[in-house]
Amino acid sequence: MNVEQTKTLLTIIRKAGDIVTEAAAIDKKIAEKSGTANYVTTYDVAVQTYLIKELTALFPDAQFLAEEKDNDPACLNAPHCFIIDPIDGTTNFIHAYHHSTISVALFENGTACFGAVFNPYTGELFHAVRGGGAFCNEHPIHVADRPLDHALVAFGTSPYYKDTLCDKTFAFLKEMFLTGSDIRRVGAAALDLAGIADGRNDVFFEFILSPWDYAAGALLITEAGGVITSMTGQPLDMTHPTSVIAGNPALHAQILKLVAKYQI
Ligand code: IPD
Ligand code: CA
Ligand code: CA
Repeated sequence: MNVEQTKTLLTIIRKAGDIVTEAAAIDKKIAEKSGTANYVTTYDVAVQTYLIKELTALFPDAQFLAEEKDNDPACLNAPHCFIIDPIDGTTNFIHAYHHSTISVALFENGTACFGAVFNPYTGELFHAVRGGGAFCNEHPIHVADRPLDHALVAFGTSPYYKDTLCDKTFAFLKEMFLTGSDIRRVGAAALDLAGIADGRNDVFFEFILSPWDYAAGALLITEAGGVITSMTGQPLDMTHPTSVIAGNPALHAQILKLVAKYQI
């Protein structure tokens, strides 16, 4: 992937944001998916369709792992495979919270080489290139170095798995609330992760997420000097759902120990 291709990718992702911001509240047609409180709108599908069309024009051999379609995990190892969440924060979108994002990661032969998370409401476009650093609107970003007792802890509730993960989530949350400075649950995992990369959040956890939630954010965090793994400390699986924990290297090591007793 060269500099021109990176620029083109960012342009495509910004344009996809127009579909989100121009959505009329009145025609956000909703369908329910599997699990609890799991929705999809016509706009999730429209953004995904637009991205697949434009990204295929840029990389004709591209394969896609994307939330609103059937996927073959084997395509991660293709020469070019995009992992896409067309709208991360669909519930926010439906409720007009103006805090949703488009998340796009590019893997070359199974290795993450580009990630972008775009909030079309604020115009903040976070991106990272493997070995090239992480940026917000082209300005370099870095994880914060606050200690745990001053840490702002972002988390997700795993809302589609309330039956199995509610108790663990809120037990660990209580420990993090008591240990850190305060907590935030703002409803878009990819933006929570971008917030770790640029230092506004210090810690993030969620007991289950899907690759499209974290593929781009993971590269942002590692390129910004942070660490992101599963709650057992394993590298994130980019083909199946997993738990996620992230922070600067010191905080990540600390919270990995704290989460161990919550029976992952
Ligand atoms: C969801 C959001 C939410 C997180 C859920 C995700 P979606 O993604 O990131 O913050 O708690 O686990 O599934 O469904 O809005 O794309
Ligand atoms: Ca998502
Ligand atoms: Ca989504």
